[in-house]
Amino acid sequence: MNKSESTDSIQMIPNHVAIIMDGNGRWAQKRGLPRLAGHRAGTENLRKIIEECINLDIKHLTIYAFSTENWHRPIEEVSGLMGLLENMLDKELESLDKNGVSIRHLGHSFGIHERLMNKIVDAVNTTRNNSTLVLNVAFNYGGRHELVRAVQNIIDDELSSQEVDEELISNYLDTSGQPDPDLVIRTSGEYRISNFLVWQSAYAEWYFTTKLWPDFNEEELYRALVFFSGRERRFGQISDQIK
Ligand code: IPE
Ligand code: IPE
Ligand code: MG
Repeated sequence: MNKSESTDSIQMIPNHVAIIMDGNGRWAQKRGLPRLAGHRAGTENLRKIIEECINLDIKHLTIYAFSTENWHRPIEEVSGLMGLLENMLDKELESLDKNGVSIRHLGHSFGIHERLMNKIVDAVNTTRNNSTLVLNVAFNYGGRHELVRAVQNIIDDELSSQEVDEELISNYLDTSGQPDPDLVIRTSGEYRISNFLVWQSAYAEWYFTTKLWPDFNEEELYRALVFFSGRERRFGQISDQIK
């Protein structure tokens, strides 16, 4: 499917797309390369996908870059992944900013090296007023941990149980103020949530592909968007009610 073939069938552009970028390690292993080469290829790919999301006028893109569980990987891989984010911020911040991308960090700072954390904070602050695309980088992120932090903050703010409702909880999450994802994409043939946006994806459409993340190109993104266009989102109602 090329772009012109697919744009006809993309009738609905999701406002918020979230991606579990999985399969970098297998991509590298298949080529006899170290796993980090896969992560590097995945990062290159991300640059193209961000550009395409801007072209398609997608307004929010969330990418899962490092989970709270990924700390359990071999130390060399963990430091490699930290280095890749740092490198990407060093190299790409200027052009992301120029293209109107507003970077947000989902996750917590605990465990992240101070130098990297400063660069993340700087990227968020520099791009704060951009509005073409909000890019949420889920890094050192876990959906359960995000909920734990939300509950802790609600208690610290001395709110009463009567004040707690769904809207309040949403406002205490890292995605506060943003719409929930409409479409969640997971690459590499894994069919699980892996602690990603556990609250926010309650009514997302899910798209799974066996493509490994470094191979998930623009064409694959169109496929996911065509799939999304064909979904009927009923939110608990029946078909007749929403026609
Ligand atoms: C996803 O690729 C990137 C991260 C989790 C950081 P993986 O590294 O999980 O790749 P596979 O699943 O081992 O192939
Ligand atoms: C999910 O991928 C995390 C990221 C893509 C950053 P994993 O490869 O870590 O997921 P599991 O552990 O196989 O479920
Ligand atoms: Mg994986």
